[in-house]
Formats: sequence, structure tokens, C-alpha cells
Amino acid sequence: MSKKRIFAFRHLIVKRKITCSIRKMKKRAIVIGASSGIGREVALLLKEKGWALGVAARRTELLKEMSEVEFEQIDVTQDNATEKLRNLIERTGGMDLFFYASGIGKQNRKLQEDIELQTMQTNALGFTRMIGEAYRYFAQRGEGHIAAITSIAGTKGLGPAPAYSATKAMQNTYLQALEQQANARGLHIRFTDIRPGFVDTALLSGDFHYPMMLKPKEVAQDIVRAIETHQHVRVIDWRYRLLTAIWRRIPRCIWRRIKL
Ligand SMILES: NC(=O)c1ccc[n+]([C@@H]2O[C@H](COP(=O)([O-])OP(=O)(O)OC[C@H]3O[C@@H](n4cnc5c(N)ncnc54)[C@H](OP(=O)(O)O)[C@@H]3O)[C@@H](O)[C@H]2O)c1
Repeated sequence: MSKKRIFAFRHLIVKRKITCSIRKMKKRAIVIGASSGIGREVALLLKEKGWALGVAARRTELLKEMSEVEFEQIDVTQDNATEKLRNLIERTGGMDLFFYASGIGKQNRKLQEDIELQTMQTNALGFTRMIGEAYRYFAQRGEGHIAAITSIAGTKGLGPAPAYSATKAMQNTYLQALEQQANARGLHIRFTDIRPGFVDTALLSGDFHYPMMLKPKEVAQDIVRAIETHQHVRVIDWRYRLLTAIWRRIPRCIWRRIKL
């Protein structure tokens, strides 16, 4: 090997070592569902705050637009998603925070079968698959933080979007159950269940007009604050906190007659 080549090789190794030690010092977050909407805004904000990031979603062309982040194409409905997540964690240099934003949601007033089943696949099965892998990773490591965007839609069964509201209720309950299990096992895993109201993202695109629409950037700031202050459940914003508090108190005999 020529002297020039040996020098270039040594330079590469030193650069790698420096990158690795910087990554070790930085807090590391994995964001699933970072290609658009709230997940993307949270990823950008964490990056701005100095976190080392690994991001994932199906549309890698959008993930590539983010500079200095590791990325992976992950479809949470596929069996290989957990293996891909492990690869991403390794390339990011480990994981302190697992932030889960992937999800789909549609109104389905005529109860089309494909919409209901796809929603279940993504929001229930995909969610369980990915949150489970993060939980096992943190259980082995001894500590970590799992934060996920669920929704206020899990508060009650919503007629216009049955699978969406049912899967969101499932996500709320699942996080609560994992939190209890982690405590019982003496694992230092924190949980933050984030429940926004209507947010102006692609998920709500269409003809229907949604009231009290929130801005994704502002929602992301609220989310990062909730993570930093270790909140267990965060309903965003105060208007939706009030609304869901009222919803909860509506008895079933009245709820079933309300036209949404
Ligand atoms: N917008 C709202 O009003 C609202 C309110 C409450 C809760 N939420 C929740 O917030 C989360 C984010 O939604 P958003 O409003 O930001 O909508 P969005 O812009 O459509 O973002 C959805 C994200 O989920 C990812 N995703 C969807 N299916 C996936 C799959 N099979 N595998 C991997 N990633 C997948 C998308 O990436 P790819 O398409 O590139 O895979 C995208 O990054 C969802 O869980 C949603 O239910 C939204």
C-alpha cells in the first residue's frame, strides 16, 4: 500500500472514532414517521436541539432531505420492520428516546373494509410491533424513553372514523399497560402518550373542514417540552384538554345519539 493510501485510511479511522465519540456524548433519538407532518417537525426540532437522529418512514426521498441524520426505509406493517429498526439504532449509535409518529387515519362513514383493515394494520399491529421492539431494547439496556403520538380520538368511539378511534384507544391503553409492566419489573423506561386535537397535516387533507386546527410546528414544540419534562400524558392543546374532559363525562345513552 502506498504512503498516501495508508494516510487516507488512518484519516478515515480517526474521523470515524471522532464521529462515534461525538455520538456517544449526544443524546440519541429514533423518530418513526419522520417523513411528514408532526413526526417531521419533532425530528427537526430535536436535531436543532442537538440530538443525534435516526429517522424512518416509507418515503425515503423525504427523509433524505434532512441533513446529518441516519435514515431507514421502514414500513411498520411489514415483518422486517423490527430488524430494520435495530439496524437504524445501531447506525445512530444507540437510542435514548424512541419517538413514534407513524399512523394513518381516514373518515369512513360507509365503513369500507379496506380502510378499516389498513388502519388496524398500521395503527394497531404496526404500533405494537415497533413499540414492542423499542421496549425490549430499553429493557435490555436498563433505561430509555418511549414517546408516541396517539390522539384525542381514543377518548370515545367516534362514528365517522371507527377504526381510527378504536386503534387510538388501543394505543392509549397499550402505553398505560407497558408503563405499569415496566414499573413492576423495575425497568427505568419512561413513557409519554401524546394526544393532539386536529392538526393541519396531510392526514386531514380533503374536503372536510376541521375546527380548532393546530399548527404542526407548535404541536412539535409542545411535544418536545412534554418529553423534556417527562410528562406521562399530554393532550394538545388546552382547548382539547377541556373538550376531552367534557366528552369523558357524557354517558353512553347520550353519546350514541350525537351526530358527529
Ligand atoms: N393530524 C392530526 O389531526 C392528528 C391528530 C391527532 C393525532 N395524530 C396522529 O399523529 C401521527 C402523525 O400524523 P400526521 O398528522 O403528522 O400525518 P402525516 O403527515 O400523514 O404523517 C404520518 C406519518 O406516518 C408515516 N406512516 C404512515 N404509514 C406508515 C407505515 N406503514 N410505515 C411507516 N410509516 C408510516 C408517514 O410516512 P410514510 O408515508 O413516508 O411512510 C408519515 O411520516 C399519526 O399517528 C396520527 O394519527 C394526527
